[in-house]
Parts: sequence; structure tokens; C-alpha cells
Amino acid sequence: MLQNLSKVVAQDKNFLNIINGRSVPALSQETITVLCPSDGSAFATIPQSKAADVDLAVRAAREAFESGPWSRTPAFERGRLLTRLSRLIEQHADELGALESRDTGKPVRQGKADVVAAMRYYEFYGGACDKIHGDTIPFLDGYTALTLREPHGVVAGIIPWNYPMQIMARVVGAALAMGNTLVVKPAEDASLSTIRIGELAVEAGFPDGVLNVVTGYGRDAGAALSSHPGIDYVTFTGSPATGTFIQQAAAANNRGVTMELGGKSPQIVFADADVEKALPVLVNAIIQNGGQTCSAGSRILVERAIYDDVATALAERFDRLVAGPHDADLDLGPMINPAQKRRVENYVALAAEAGIEVIGRGSIDVGAPATGFYVAPVLFGAVDRAAVIAQEEIFGPVLSLFPFDSEQDAIQLANSTEYGLVAGVWTRDGARQHRVAKRVRAGQVYVNAYGAGGGIELPFGGFKKSGHGREKGFEALYDMSATKTIVFRHD
Ligand code: NAI
Ligand code: MG
Repeated sequence: MLQNLSKVVAQDKNFLNIINGRSVPALSQETITVLCPSDGSAFATIPQSKAADVDLAVRAAREAFESGPWSRTPAFERGRLLTRLSRLIEQHADELGALESRDTGKPVRQGKADVVAAMRYYEFYGGACDKIHGDTIPFLDGYTALTLREPHGVVAGIIPWNYPMQIMARVVGAALAMGNTLVVKPAEDASLSTIRIGELAVEAGFPDGVLNVVTGYGRDAGAALSSHPGIDYVTFTGSPATGTFIQQAAAANNRGVTMELGGKSPQIVFADADVEKALPVLVNAIIQNGGQTCSAGSRILVERAIYDDVATALAERFDRLVAGPHDADLDLGPMINPAQKRRVENYVALAAEAGIEVIGRGSIDVGAPATGFYVAPVLFGAVDRAAVIAQEEIFGPVLSLFPFDSEQDAIQLANSTEYGLVAGVWTRDGARQHRVAKRVRAGQVYVNAYGAGGGIELPFGGFKKSGHGREKGFEALYDMSATKTIVFRHD
């Protein structure tokens, strides 16, 4: 299968930055080797950009914002360009899906799903451009007051490696829709689809400098971008620790930020729930993308009356899960890199040392290369509420079960971590659905469902340590713009 993929993904391709509409290497000519997590093989390179490359990209974006044709492009024309990009992504769907899977190790069906989501983001924001507007405000006699929604200017988008194509699309789609220009810095572990879509944006006809892509390590390219005084707004998805760095860097220039920093998301299963309907959703919410998902449902809270039954049913499902190479399209792929594999294994070891019982464990496919970064899925039963694995984001295929005794206990337990990104509530009781959905501190709450990823139309973002600001849907357009108030006196 790897042979098949190499027909669409050049074996030794050197990918380049996109600055001012042109594909260019890093000024230093240095590169980073791109590995496929399924077997650890090197198959491409990306530029190892530094502050000087970032500076060129920010200047190009600034020029495009201030004096290029972009600032005079009407909203509906921006919409047409975004729609054209969406069509180009559709035309290159097979190539992009294969590229994303190979670069991140995600099963090919997930790579394909990510292409569809990316396409939908550009389509959605393409359609939204000329449908978002300001207000007229009743004011003093002899005055007319109105508001305009104006772009921030040059937006920096720092993208993680778990869903690069989707997360790039939600950032870039909303930012371009509002008339900003961008410099995007994808993660060093998964930059290829971002570069490819940057190339397609040039092909779609976006003016030079409107969308720039600069690859490199977070500590140099990422740090240079987030602290650059030519950046007007920073949007970031990734770890809370890096989010703190980026906010400090942006604070030095007093710039605004949107932060999406992950979660420890609970799913609450009441005794009256349709458990058969819930089971596959509960498993998928932690297994999708190998658990490397900000909105992963990593805690399952089960009402004590049905706890044993649910634990047994989940354990049976976990025992059957298999991790393997992206092109084998099994339940899950490998972790993104050796460090992430070690991180997940360390959490599992720590929990075992603390005496938490493993009640289900999947396997690694016998055909999976030993050089890949695989972790077998693990289900922990009756986890102590104060345990490290009950509190910290693991970002791997590790699920923790907790029994609870009452609705109030469930809400307290759901809210007992520092995070607040997503939650699931499973019950047939309509009044309880409303009560619990309102009292759980999470940016999205699903009732008798759980929507990890996707959900282009649905505002998304965190409470507490999960971050601030909102992406997706129309809310992202507010984040990606600033209100200007204009007052006319005409007495
Ligand atoms: P990270 O948060 O450090 O990396 C995300 C992005 O930030 C990458 O593009 C990286 O190059 C950039 N970056 C890193 N340091 C930077 C800095 N000082 N200034 C500016 N940009 C910087 O995440 P990492 O280290 O790859 O993964 C560690 C953990 O973070 C994971 O185990 C997981 O728990 C969490 N994470 C959460 C994500 C989410 O979607 N919520 C996504 C990725 C990681
Ligand atoms: Mg990679």
C-alpha cells in the first residue's frame, strides 16, 4: 500500500514555503526531514525557517493588506475566491487525503474525512463573506451611528499536527472571509497539507501575499511569528504550555489572541440512556485520530446502577481495537512521533503504578512495522477522581471510567478538571438534558451524540484552561474582525 501512495506523494519531494505568492526555500537553505509515523521512514523535507523568513512573510502579508488589491476586493469576490479554493481541494481530494494520512499516520478514511471538512470550511466561509454586517444604532437626535466589521490586519495562524488541514481551514477560511491577510505556521510534524493548500490558494487566484505559509520549529519560526510586531492578531491551537508562551509574546505587542488549548472532555451516561446507541460513540470519541484530538471524549462518567454493564461492554469493544499503519485503515493509526508515544506510555505506566485497573486493552497489528510509533488503546476502570490520568490531557487512546451517584455528583465530576472544551450527555429525560447541558462548563455540549471534529457551522472553543475565543461557524468571523463605530452628526 505504501507503494500505491507514493504514486501520489513524491518519495523525495522537497516542499517549500509560500511567501508573496511564490514557493521558496528557507533563506538558510536548511530543511526538516518529514517522517511517516506508520514506519518512521523519511519521505520529504520542509524548510527550516527562522526569524528572517518569518519577517519576509509578515512583510508580504502587511503589503498585501495595506496596499495590494486585497484591501479593495469586495466581500463577494473574497467569497468567490474561497469557493474556488474549496473546488480545487475537491479536485485534489485523493492527493490531499493520502498526503495527510502519510504525514500524520491517521487512517486513510480519516484523511479523506479531513479533506471533506477542509473543503466545507472554505465553502462555508466563502458563502458567509457577504452575509455578515454591522448595525445601525439608535443614538442622539441629529446623529446617525453605525458599525462596520473590519479585519484585524495581518493574522498569524499557528497550527498543530493532529488535524492540520481542518484546523488550517477553520483559521484561514474565517480570517480571509473578513479581509485579513495571513502568515500560517504549521507544526513541524505535519506541514505538508498546509503547504499544498497554500499552493492551491495561489492557483485559485488569491493576490500575492494574502496567504503565506512558513514552516519550521515552534521555538524559532513559531516564536518569531507570535512575537513579530507586524502581526495584528494571533490564533493558536495546541498545548496550554505553548499557548502561554504565545500569549506572552503577543502581549508584548498588546495584540489579541484566540486560544484553543485542548480538553479533558467528559461524557455522562445516565442509567436511563440508550446505551447501545451510546457505546460506539463513546469508543469513537477517544479512538478517532488515536485520541490525538482536542475534543477527545477521554472521561466516561457512568451512573452507578449501570456502571458494571457499561464497563463490561466498553472493555469488550476495547479488546477488539487494533492500531496499525495509516494505509491499513484499522481502528487507529500510530502516534504522531516518538515523543508522543512515550508521553502516552508514561501516563499508562503511571496509572498502573497508582493501582488503577486496566479493564480493556486493544492491540497493535502484527503487520505494523516495528519502526512505527504505535500505542495499544487502554481502558481504565473506576479511576480515582484525583488521579493524574483523571485530570491531565493525555492525547492518546486512553479512556478512563468513573462511577457517579446522582445528577449533581455527575455535574461536579464533569466540571472537576481545569479544562472545559466539549461534553456529552446521554439520557432520555428531557428536563435533565437541559439542566445538565446548562450546568456543564464546556464550549460545546452534545446530548445523545458526541461531535468530535467536523461541525463547521457550530461555534467551538473553551472555558477555563481550554482557552478563549471562538472558532467555527459565524462566531469565528467576529473573532477575526474588530468592530468600528462611525458617528455622523447632521443637525
Ligand atoms: P505544541 O502546542 O507545542 O505545538 C503546536 C504548534 O505550536 C506547532 O505548530 C508548534 O511548532 C508551535 N509552537 C511550539 N512552541 C512554540 C513557541 N514557543 N512559540 C510559537 N509556536 C510554538 O504541541 P506539541 O509539543 O507538538 O505537543 C505536546 C502536547 O500538546 C500534546 O501531547 C498534546 O497534549 C497537546 N496538543 C494539543 C493539541 C490540541 O488540539 N489541543 C494539538 C497539539 C498538541
Ligand atoms: Mg510527519
